[in-house]
Amino acid sequence: METLRLVLLFVHILGFAALLGGLLVQVREPSKSVNALMRDGAGTAFLAGLLLVGVLEAGDGDVNHAKIGVKFAIGLVILVLVMVNLRKPSIPQGLYFALLGLTVVNIAVAVFWSPAHA
Ligand code: HEM
Repeated sequence: METLRLVLLFVHILGFAALLGGLLVQVREPSKSVNALMRDGAGTAFLAGLLLVGVLEAGDGDVNHAKIGVKFAIGLVILVLVMVNLRKPSIPQGLYFALLGLTVVNIAVAVFWSPAHA
């Protein structure tokens, strides 16, 4: 089970790294849009995150449901905003910085809030 958790965590980190990369690659571009990196990254991070929760729940440690709940809500908002704006030729600057901010907040929640499981 530990190997599965580590593999899912690896995929989870690759997922949000792609999301963050897809955002940062266009930080100086005048026109912003939802690119394939953001689409695949948000989807992968979300799915691997859900599977990670399943593995933690199946384990015998205490799962930090408040932390997971916050991460789930932020991850869902990111995923919906990315998918809804996928086909638009460009997105407003405000939406772009909201996506960047939410992604950075979810990393901070993951790292600074006490572990997801005991
Ligand atoms: C953009 C969205 C997300 C980002 C940036 C993100 C970021 C991270 C980071 C940095 C870690 C590693 C933290 C550590 O090991 O100390 C992590 C772990 C984790 N994430 Fe996410 N996450 C996101 C979405 C989600 C979602 C939607 C869920 C589930 C509903 C989730 C569930 C988890 C769980 C359960 C772990 C802990 C794994 C473990 O320690 O076994 N994440 N996440």
